[in-house]
Amino acid sequence: MNTQRTHRILIERATAQDLERLLRIEQESFSGPWTRKMFEVELEGNPFSYLFAARSIYDGEASGDIVGYVCFWVVFNEVRVMTLAVEPSVRRQGIASELVQFMLTFGRAQGAVRAILEVRASNLAARGLYEQMGFRQTAVRTKYYANPTEDAILMEMNPLEIKLTANS
Ligand SMILES: CC(C)(COP(=O)(O)OP(=O)(O)OC[C@H]1O[C@@H](n2cnc3c(N)ncnc32)[C@H](O)[C@@H]1OP(=O)(O)O)[C@@H](O)C(=O)NCCC(=O)NCCS
Repeated sequence: MNTQRTHRILIERATAQDLERLLRIEQESFSGPWTRKMFEVELEGNPFSYLFAARSIYDGEASGDIVGYVCFWVVFNEVRVMTLAVEPSVRRQGIASELVQFMLTFGRAQGAVRAILEVRASNLAARGLYEQMGFRQTAVRTKYYANPTEDAILMEMNPLEIKLTANS
């Protein structure tokens, strides 16, 4: 087990070459994972979409190992979080917090003033992450998710504010 509290990462735009690794993390992370086609649409077919990958840094060098990613849309003045995941063996080391912080900073630079997302009600890790980053629950969508059927918690950050993470 990795006992480091923070894991140094480099965040950069994902490319088609990264899809294999992203799909593996996605499959380890969700009961209804995105397919390759869905990632390809976000990469190539949607002008509002941004897909960024986090690579581990060791001894000051990016190793190339992708350990997490975030996909979001910037639509007019709003950031919409589409998916976010971290490789299971390196969770709880601040990687998702850094990806969220990056997404919000990027979105703000594009003119966004608020951010929204949906999360499974049982996903306490993600809900804890988003609350810690400043999102607040705004509504519940009953039985929104399938596989398994579950409510969605809608969360919002309005106005958009960027909290510094441990790695900042
Ligand atoms: C949710 C997820 C992205 C968090 O990634 P991470 O890199 O481990 O998150 P961080 O280390 O940045 O954690 C930040 C905060 O989130 C909360 N958190 C993270 N994991 C948690 C867990 N298992 N239980 C409770 N709270 C948790 C804590 O408040 C944590 O702060 P702390 O460590 O100081 O207590 C990761 O667990 C994951 O990939 N899960 C599966 C995919 C998923 O659910 N994605 C979100 C879909 S909307």
